[in-house]
Amino acid sequence: MLKVGLLGTGNISELFVQATKHVDGMEATAVFNRDQHKANVFADQHRIKFAYNDYNAMLNDPHINCIYIGLPNSMHFDYAIKALKAGKVTIVEKPFVSNLTEFDEVVKTAEENDTMIFEMTRTMELPNFKTIKDNLELILPVRLVTINFSQYSRRYNDLLAGKMPNVFSEEFSGGALMDLGVYGVHLMIGLFGKPRGLMYVANHLSNSVDISGTLIMKYKSFIASLAQSKNSKCDNRITIQGERGTIYVTPTASILGKVELDMADRTDISAIQEHESMVYTLAKVVGVVERNDTAMAKLMLAHSRDVMEVLEKARKSAGITFLADNKKKL
Ligand SMILES: NC(=O)c1ccc[n+]([C@@H]2O[C@H](COP(=O)([O-])OP(=O)(O)OC[C@H]3O[C@@H](n4cnc5c(N)ncnc54)[C@H](OP(=O)(O)O)[C@@H]3O)[C@@H](O)[C@H]2O)c1
Repeated sequence: MLKVGLLGTGNISELFVQATKHVDGMEATAVFNRDQHKANVFADQHRIKFAYNDYNAMLNDPHINCIYIGLPNSMHFDYAIKALKAGKVTIVEKPFVSNLTEFDEVVKTAEENDTMIFEMTRTMELPNFKTIKDNLELILPVRLVTINFSQYSRRYNDLLAGKMPNVFSEEFSGGALMDLGVYGVHLMIGLFGKPRGLMYVANHLSNSVDISGTLIMKYKSFIASLAQSKNSKCDNRITIQGERGTIYVTPTASILGKVELDMADRTDISAIQEHESMVYTLAKVVGVVERNDTAMAKLMLAHSRDVMEVLEKARKSAGITFLADNKKKL
């Protein structure tokens, strides 16, 4: 049984707790917030046994063997390193960490401490990911892929009011690509592997961070464009155009809710997805840990590393820099 200590009490931690209720072999056992009162309130609301505002105390709690990190992006690295050094299985929200240097350091730390680390990827484990993958060969060769994930963020209003929300800051490794674009990158890597080349063109805030932008990924026979925005919205969709047909997916790579195949006719080929998207990834993590399936854990990490590499190259091409890029490591 994975007995999870959650870091953070935001929306995503709420979703995580709900998801654990549909996953055999996983239980939300403790919660951490820097403010003890917030941790207590969250624990009461979700019937979680232990509430902490001291991370070391949580790591020393023998009731917990797994840590879930639902903190802002730039905090993933330090908290993951500590969890791994304490021998805990570690599940990190997307995007995994801020850059490849951090990625390699956390993976090394997991190996040294004989434990496992996973990214909360969602996309790869959704039943409709397999649906898309299985039907791709019908439309080959692929010629164009377009992905749009735009969501007007209430935190953009905070920004306009003069605040600096974490999700838009260089300090917290924010921006539209890290927040929304990452899902499309997971989908692209999962379906087609790493691109031969890429370029990200961004609309920047007053810092270097992207409020929106378009990532072009060049493959041997086709081009993919991934648009993401946090200050405008649209009907989000994914279109995979091949010479023999087109696959339409709605709404986003984080959900993959509906898949249609358009050849002679347009047909709904969606798989049944009865659960919220996190459930599938968590169920996979439980299985990998229970079987001590180190080969699968490595495969999952190799995928996450490819995603991280694309994100880092994209950021560099657009001139987006984070404080974490210059930080001295532990
Ligand atoms: N929000 C979503 O719907 C969503 C969806 C998918 C993935 N994610 C991922 O989840 C992670 C968290 O995102 P979020 O938008 O939920 O972040 P957030 O609202 O800014 O913060 C989440 C939690 O982190 C804590 N926190 C924030 N700044 C902190 C600091 N300086 N020191 C200690 N704790 C701090 C917050 O505590 P306080 O309550 O004390 O501020 C809160 O409990 C990100 O990696 C994001 O990519 C989020």
